[in-house]
Amino acid sequence: MKIGFIGLGKMSTAIIRGLKNTSFEIIAAGRDPQKTAQDAEQLGITAISEHQALIEQADLIILGVKPQVLPSITAKLHFRQPVISMAAGISLNRLAELIDDKLPLIRIMPNINAQILESSTAICGNDKVDAGLMDLAKEITNSFGRTFDIAEKDFDTFTALAGSGPAYIYLFIETLSLAGVKHGLTKNQALDIVSHTMLASVQNLIANNDSPHDLIDKISSPGGTTIAGLLELEKNGLTTSVIAGIDAAIDRAKKL
Ligand SMILES: NC(=O)c1ccc[n+]([C@@H]2O[C@H](COP(=O)([O-])OP(=O)(O)OC[C@H]3O[C@@H](n4cnc5c(N)ncnc54)[C@H](OP(=O)(O)O)[C@@H]3O)[C@@H](O)[C@H]2O)c1
Repeated sequence: MKIGFIGLGKMSTAIIRGLKNTSFEIIAAGRDPQKTAQDAEQLGITAISEHQALIEQADLIILGVKPQVLPSITAKLHFRQPVISMAAGISLNRLAELIDDKLPLIRIMPNINAQILESSTAICGNDKVDAGLMDLAKEITNSFGRTFDIAEKDFDTFTALAGSGPAYIYLFIETLSLAGVKHGLTKNQALDIVSHTMLASVQNLIANNDSPHDLIDKISSPGGTTIAGLLELEKNGLTTSVIAGIDAAIDRAKKL
């Protein structure tokens, strides 16, 4: 099975690092053949200088270019195989217009954690995608993280939670660390403490059947420090503020 990448940027590179742990053969065509050849050599894959030549050789295509340039690239090409697109905001219907409405088309939404092969990736396909092809696509997405079957109508919500989510989590880590600095820790000390606490808290949540609320109750002793902090956070609207942020990200995704 030969997988052909069109576009060899940050996300394609991360995905290819995952695919290197599988038996798939990988070929790629970027914008600039010289740069593609250099990048391909580093990744241990085969560079192809022409997009159409890549399409003739590949069993499956992965489009790794920005949504803005996708239409101008696909307009010049004739696809004959299943295509996976990771382009934010490009629907399956739009892909069918750009590529071929008779071909199996799959839309995925990976996130930045693909860099450490821990992406949260949403997947959905059009009605030409059979179960075997979907399994194959998931073998690809599972090679760089975990795959979530998401109805296309929920892709914008997924994008806000998993695509933008890491930025919100980093902001929370940064903010907790600043609180540590305010009270005398160095920034590095505070970041170290908060990062480990964040990691272990998520591991604890996943390892147990407890809900976040169960765990909050376990930490909040009567009249103690945690409940005092929680009430102050809510007085300042943490829950409504986070949900409003997600609303804004979803609204923005719908307008892309
Ligand atoms: N980055 C993320 O966290 C993320 C998350 C989810 C989805 N995505 C999606 O992933 C896709 C790629 O994003 P990215 O972050 O990897 O962007 P990127 O690093 O800018 O990669 C895009 C690549 O496309 C290449 N390209 C431009 N014009 C081309 C052409 N005519 N033919 C072939 N290749 C061409 C660029 O080459 P040059 O550099 O030589 O111009 C670049 O290597 C986008 O559709 C984005 O929506 C990204």
